[in-house]
Amino acid sequence: MAEPSKLAKDDEPKDDATPNVSEVETVDVTTEEEAVAALDATVERGEPILQVRNLVKHFPLTQGILFKKQIGAVKAVDGVSFDLYQGETLGIVGESGCGKSTVAKLLMNLEQATAGEIFYKGQDITRLSGRALKAVRRNIQMVFQDPYTSLNPRMTVGDIIGEPFDIHPEVAPKGDRRRKVQELLDVVGLNPEYINRYPHQFSGGQRQRIGIARGLALNPEIIICDEPVSALDVSVQAQVINLMERLQDEFNLSYLFIAHDLSIVRHISDRVGVMYLGKIAEIGTDEQIYEHPTHPYTQALLSAVPVPDPDAREGRERIILTGDVPSPANPPSGCRFRTRCWKAQDKCAEEVPLLAIPERFKGTDSPAAHESACHFAEEKDVVHAA
Ligand SMILES: Nc1ncnc2c1ncn2[C@@H]1O[C@H](COP(=O)(O)OP(=O)(O)OP(=O)(O)O)[C@@H](O)[C@H]1O
Ligand code: SF4
Ligand SMILES: [Mg+2]
Repeated sequence: MAEPSKLAKDDEPKDDATPNVSEVETVDVTTEEEAVAALDATVERGEPILQVRNLVKHFPLTQGILFKKQIGAVKAVDGVSFDLYQGETLGIVGESGCGKSTVAKLLMNLEQATAGEIFYKGQDITRLSGRALKAVRRNIQMVFQDPYTSLNPRMTVGDIIGEPFDIHPEVAPKGDRRRKVQELLDVVGLNPEYINRYPHQFSGGQRQRIGIARGLALNPEIIICDEPVSALDVSVQAQVINLMERLQDEFNLSYLFIAHDLSIVRHISDRVGVMYLGKIAEIGTDEQIYEHPTHPYTQALLSAVPVPDPDAREGRERIILTGDVPSPANPPSGCRFRTRCWKAQDKCAEEVPLLAIPERFKGTDSPAAHESACHFAEEKDVVHAA
């Protein structure tokens, strides 16, 4: 894709020493009023705004038509922990089916977690209800992958973007809505006069801008972006990514940016988490993950990313991932990646590797000193695909 301009490095809220999982400072509230008031608190740039702990989502596998019997579970998300810092973009990458969208839906409360906690400003949102939950829903918004199916074809753009105001009239009272929607159209680079048009009268890129405008309508603090540019042409992808970067700056947004395209994720992210079969395999700054990966799965994924410069490929080893991704209903024992890992040993089948900074890099300033869920984590020069 064409290179959109990246945020100035000075603006990036994180440095290499920021932990991926920091201590949760829970907020003690006894009444709904107190809970709502605490959700209005301002989080300083670079402080954790969302803290996900041991998040689990198992979908029951059933048999039988009339009398459904549970015969197992799809372990879509199986113990995921990370922090999202105010003002940053945390990228999540991984192959199809590794649980990325399920994480997004859990954060949006569209699915109920089987276990685990999601702290937003120190309150576990999996336990909130009533006005407090409504306040959270206003502050955490989502932009979906497919701009063709995520917009109702029978609604005008004005109604689509303004729909969230029906649930949250306090953000834009009735008489003020048209002006507010036109402002939002302008913010995302669309002509405010398009307010009465229907989705089919726009291109894919324009429709994604409409989706973004809708996501911005309630002045959220966090936007969960699930493959927001995957359905777009390469040239349009760059424009939408540029727009998202500009909006992040302008509105002080934090992004969780999910995608399977490693180049796009690197471009927009401050930190990146790599998921495999419902777990995080490795997490760190974009430089740590892309230049100094220590997990064999990340190394294999990067090895498949084309690099045009032949000099950069010289002397490096190309890793080709073999075998299919195992079923999340029956993941391998120990390390989930072991059935495809060229380094697997007996220990890998017996012990689940924890996501942690490898012992020998702890306390060093090596770029390999970031969290990796591998018993034998080490750096490796990988050749990128031609
Ligand atoms: N409602 C559901 N019921 C049963 N299984 C589900 C459900 N939703 C997702 N799954 C399963 O959970 C696993 C993770 O799915 P998910 O959609 O989170 O993956 P993903 O990483 O977003 O994949 P993709 O890149 O293809 O979008 C998959 O095996 C999927 O089949
Ligand atoms: S723990 Fe073992 S199987 Fe898993 S990635 Fe590391 S070396 Fe490979
Ligand atoms: Mg998905």
